[in-house]
Amino acid sequence: MIHLAIVGPGAIGGTLAAWLGQDPEIDVSVCARTPFEDLVVETPHGMLKTRPKVLVDADQADPVDWVLIATKTYSAETTRPWLERLCGPQTRVAIVQNGVEHVRLFEHLVPRDRLVPVMINLPASRTAPGRIVQSRDGIIAVPSGRNGEDFVRLFAKTGIEAKAHDDFVSQLWIKLCGNCVAIVPALTLRATGPVWNADMEAIVRGLAEECAAVGRAEGADIPASVVENAIANMRNMAEGAISGSIHADRLAGSPMEVDTRNGVIVRLGEKHGIATPMNRMLVTLLNAAGQPWLAKT
Ligand SMILES: NC(=O)c1ccc[n+]([C@@H]2O[C@H](COP(=O)([O-])OP(=O)(O)OC[C@H]3O[C@@H](n4cnc5c(N)ncnc54)[C@H](OP(=O)(O)O)[C@@H]3O)[C@@H](O)[C@H]2O)c1
Repeated sequence: MIHLAIVGPGAIGGTLAAWLGQDPEIDVSVCARTPFEDLVVETPHGMLKTRPKVLVDADQADPVDWVLIATKTYSAETTRPWLERLCGPQTRVAIVQNGVEHVRLFEHLVPRDRLVPVMINLPASRTAPGRIVQSRDGIIAVPSGRNGEDFVRLFAKTGIEAKAHDDFVSQLWIKLCGNCVAIVPALTLRATGPVWNADMEAIVRGLAEECAAVGRAEGADIPASVVENAIANMRNMAEGAISGSIHADRLAGSPMEVDTRNGVIVRLGEKHGIATPMNRMLVTLLNAAGQPWLAKT
């Protein structure tokens, strides 16, 4: 039996808990901030219903084989009490979050050789605690090596395609190129398709090209088609559509992963001497417009 705990059973954590809970060889617990009784996930393959063990206090937790962290990136530090209780000498910790800085955010909390960064491409949203809609099939990418291969095996009996990659860094940056452009609708609160013009395209292209340039400097292999696809997605974004969680979070008045998706491009651009004026400007504007608590500190 594999003992596994998921910290942060929101849209992603809840979906993973429901899929992994289908395997009788995996004992799934969830470590929640907001408790719930049962988990119901609508997936493209039908409804998954499970009753994982729900822990709400770190004192209830014991060491497990695997911890999956599925909080938003800005909650990383708040997972410390869970990690202190859930991690024994052999525990491996998978960080299932967006962005490219999984290791930086957790290496002071977990030994580097037991940390597994995870890229997940799986659209899901939570309608209530324990109630989630997974709208399309999901894929997971991890680095190759023993930890990555063992993590992939956890998903053998799920409807999620997990794969280990020699070139994991490219997987992270290719996803970021698609994600970083969603800062535009997050800022305007309007789909980009209906207001598309040459100036809008220049902004979106600037965001994606800066991301690709910084990613390449970080060692990622990013074909030009990745930038073109990111632009095409914004050009085709239909009126009323929501582009990613940053847009949804701003609409809901929730904190946003601005630093994870765009601030990081500015920071790492500085490190490599690459100018990122488009990301810098939109990060500044979105922080000023959408994160009022920043202005107070
Ligand atoms: N949703 C998607 O489609 C999607 C797709 C790909 C990648 N991602 C990435 O996956 C990550 C998770 O996103 P999400 O959409 O699943 O976010 P989410 O729905 O907001 O879920 C985050 C969960 O973490 C919980 N949480 C926060 N701090 C906690 C703590 N200290 N202890 C226990 N639970 C804690 C939250 O509790 P509450 O219930 O109290 O809020 C919430 O249930 C993000 O990095 C996101 O960018 C999301």
